[in-house]
Amino acid sequence: MALVEDGRRVIENLIHSQDGLHAEYGGVVPELAAREHLRKLPGLVSEVMEHNSLRPPDLERIAVTRGPGLIGCLLVGVGVAQGLGAAWQRPVVGVNHLWGHVYAAFLTRPDLEPPLLALVVSGAHSDLVLMPAHGSFQILGRTRDDAAGEAFDKAARMLGLGYPGGALVDRLAAGGRAGDQPLPRPSLPGLEFSFSGLKTALLYRIRDLGGLPALEDQTRADLAASFQHSVVESLLDKLQLALSRHPVPEVVVCGGVAANSLLRRRAPEVVGSRARLTVPTIKLCTDNAAMIGAAAAHSPPTGLVQTNPGLGW
Ligand code: KG4
Ligand code: ZN
Repeated sequence: MALVEDGRRVIENLIHSQDGLHAEYGGVVPELAAREHLRKLPGLVSEVMEHNSLRPPDLERIAVTRGPGLIGCLLVGVGVAQGLGAAWQRPVVGVNHLWGHVYAAFLTRPDLEPPLLALVVSGAHSDLVLMPAHGSFQILGRTRDDAAGEAFDKAARMLGLGYPGGALVDRLAAGGRAGDQPLPRPSLPGLEFSFSGLKTALLYRIRDLGGLPALEDQTRADLAASFQHSVVESLLDKLQLALSRHPVPEVVVCGGVAANSLLRRRAPEVVGSRARLTVPTIKLCTDNAAMIGAAAAHSPPTGLVQTNPGLGW
């Protein structure tokens, strides 16, 4: 639940993490996630309103994610937003979650303007998109199989780490040497990504080394570093190719995987002086409500908000 001004400034950005709830199942349990949203949302609404001494007429509009996402969670969010909109007589705007990830960059750099090229890497997407103007997105490339975040989460499981996996792989990789356990770097022609082959390579490597229980701590760290290196360099290879095909002045790297420390370190080196790079702060990379508020400033009015779990760009 967040409060955003003019689509460019975060006043409040509250996050109730459900990681602990889902950790024991090794992944998100959709029904538990929806029920937890229902349990937490009303209190977070009151907290933001009271903390900022707001009354409903102070709000210009109420923004809510309409997709893509888990249907139960989307229905709870849209139900709460429409209930508030009806009670408070405020317009409700349904926002595309993927647009939200890109608009997180506008909160980090309020002077940012399209045209821009965005690499959007999350649990379900690895997309290269061109944004010629506000509210306009053209997909240049996507993944043929797993998304980068999904691959990180599966690698985490193979390495005996918990959930959510990406940040844990990142942490383990910090003590590893990628060169000691080289893994292939995926490379499809053009602007498409693929991570399933790399995932299989990691699975076979662990098996060839005698299985997970046989691995030394250093070897696990080396494998994490190598896996992370392959994913990050593959993402940046394609970003570089996209930028050479579509030279634009601004580049954005966003989505949950943009919290990755290697990606954050390598992206500026790869983009160099060819464009200005914006990577949102870590809190604005992983899912949050402020980015949805920012995107709402440029989202078309929707009237009654229809949820769409499989919504594209
Ligand atoms: O955007 P996001 O918060 O949720 C979705 O829209 O999917 O992205 C979540 C994904 C998860 O797969 C998570 O493992 C990954 O982002 N992630 C990371 C890191 N932090 C989160 N992946 C690599 N390194 C990280 N530090
Ligand atoms: Zn997301």
